[in-house]
Amino acid sequence: MTTIIYTFTGTGNTLAVARQLADALGDTTIIPITQAMKGAPLLPEAETADAIGFAFPVYYVDMPPVVKECVQGLQIHGNPYLFGVATCGGSPGGALYNLDALLKAKGAHLSLGAAITMPENFIGPMNLMEPEEKVEGILTAARERIPEIAESIRSRKDIPLEGSDSTPYRVVASFFRYLITSVYGTPRRLHATDRCNRCGLCARICPTRNITVTDETVTWGSNCTWCYACIHWCPQEAVEIGGRTKGRRRYHHPDVTVKDMVEQRGG
Ligand SMILES: Cc1cc2nc3c(=O)[nH]c(=O)nc-3n(C[C@H](O)[C@H](O)[C@H](O)COP(=O)(O)O)c2cc1C
Ligand code: SF4
Ligand code: SF4
Repeated sequence: MTTIIYTFTGTGNTLAVARQLADALGDTTIIPITQAMKGAPLLPEAETADAIGFAFPVYYVDMPPVVKECVQGLQIHGNPYLFGVATCGGSPGGALYNLDALLKAKGAHLSLGAAITMPENFIGPMNLMEPEEKVEGILTAARERIPEIAESIRSRKDIPLEGSDSTPYRVVASFFRYLITSVYGTPRRLHATDRCNRCGLCARICPTRNITVTDETVTWGSNCTWCYACIHWCPQEAVEIGGRTKGRRRYHHPDVTVKDMVEQRGG
């Protein structure tokens, strides 16, 4: 069986899970979602794959905007088995249901949707990250789920999606997202403090190319997909959201590197 997994990651959790799943499945190609955006030529593997997966982090109990955009523009050839893997801090909400809805609009559907709890990377405005000593246990528990998910994919099971499609929950969640991203305005409050040495790493890894670094300044544009990569990967811990993230622990998955992040962006 040949498989493609389209991935998106901010702090490496999703890429690490996609790699573990690819190892368990065999004959699997991982393609960064940012390289499969609308207008990009379809890769030969995607024309013939027996199974296609979408792996992404949950943002505000939904899919990241960049992942939605990619799925909406994606061409699906033939009748591949479709699956989703959403990594999250424990509350996937309707993310996998929303992916299913996007696929249904293309005449397809999600046969399996797994929500995998990983270390939390939501550092601000409020800090939802667990204490550091819990990270290893969370990573181990997540890794232990991979063989069972791989087996379900291999046997092309059609099973209920994980998470919740409840309407009241969705309404509360989108109000919460509106408060944080629009009213409080996290993307507008991203800035570099005087710890910044203008190394340029944040600009090289930002998946939406939203950051410009010059000899004097670091500036953020308006095309932020909320991945928090710039905050967590800055070697100087110089990126903050307003004044609220100062002194908080930074995180990225131990098996994922800056090189992986640069590759995701497309070099
Ligand atoms: C902006 C933002 C919103 C998030 N919202 C949720 C959420 O609604 N539910 C949840 O369980 N985790 C949430 N998280 C946590 C991430 O989904 C989780 O840490 C994920 O594994 C990160 O994956 P990555 O390392 O591949 O970027 C959020 C993280 C960010 C940055
Ligand atoms: S990664 Fe950090 S130190 Fe480097 S340019 Fe960006 S904000 Fe400055
Ligand atoms: S600006 Fe930062 S948080 Fe926004 S998409 Fe780029 S790396 Fe992610």
